[in-house]
Amino acid sequence: MSITNDSIVGQLTAQDYRTASVFKKYGIDFCCNGNRSLQNVCLDKNIMPEKIIEELQATINKKDDTVIDFKSWPADLLADYIEKKHHHYIKSKAAEIKPYLHKICKVHGSLHPELYEIEKHFIAAIDELTTHMQKEEKTIFPFVRNMVHEKEKYRPTGLGSVQNPIDEMMHEHDVEGERFREIEKLSNRYTPPQGACNTYRITFALLKEFEDDLHLHIHLENNILFPNAIALEKKFAN
Ligand SMILES: [Fe+2]
Ligand SMILES: [Fe+2]
Repeated sequence: MSITNDSIVGQLTAQDYRTASVFKKYGIDFCCNGNRSLQNVCLDKNIMPEKIIEELQATINKKDDTVIDFKSWPADLLADYIEKKHHHYIKSKAAEIKPYLHKICKVHGSLHPELYEIEKHFIAAIDELTTHMQKEEKTIFPFVRNMVHEKEKYRPTGLGSVQNPIDEMMHEHDVEGERFREIEKLSNRYTPPQGACNTYRITFALLKEFEDDLHLHIHLENNILFPNAIALEKKFAN
């Protein structure tokens, strides 16, 4: 893969997700705002494009047989995978993280009031993600499965083109991306204070893992699944 100033961030991560580690290192958003060129994000972050291109190329050139090429997957398989892996992850991890967060708020909240803010943001994220995932599972995912199997032209009831629910989902991804940027800031990039107790450390480690999973989840939808759904719809329209 050749990388230039005009390469699009989201497309690079879609081709090889290992590049996400380079973008994360420089604080570049590759999932919600992945539709920008390297030149633009470098200008924004005040980084020399040559430097980041060199690091991206070195990352891609490393041989690694464990990298999953999601881009080559049929869209219905990817929809199944997202639902079974990432949607399930959110449901199960939320139930694990909430009591931990509540506990550290009770014990350490007076010295660290930012914990209450983190808890408030996390609970709001889970509430909204729960509705968000239900909408995906009822509209876009069945649309994708039906189109792949070339059944009758499927339209999510009352929604018209698949572009409509996709626009709505992408907007909600932006909202969650912003919310987790706030949690990341409040938690000092998930760094517990010196001498923090085990529960504090575990909670922050779980929150970081949750954010990483959410980034991959949103990336798979924004940069791979949704463009594939739009392409499938076009194929049927012709
Ligand atoms: Fe999803
Ligand atoms: Fe989503």
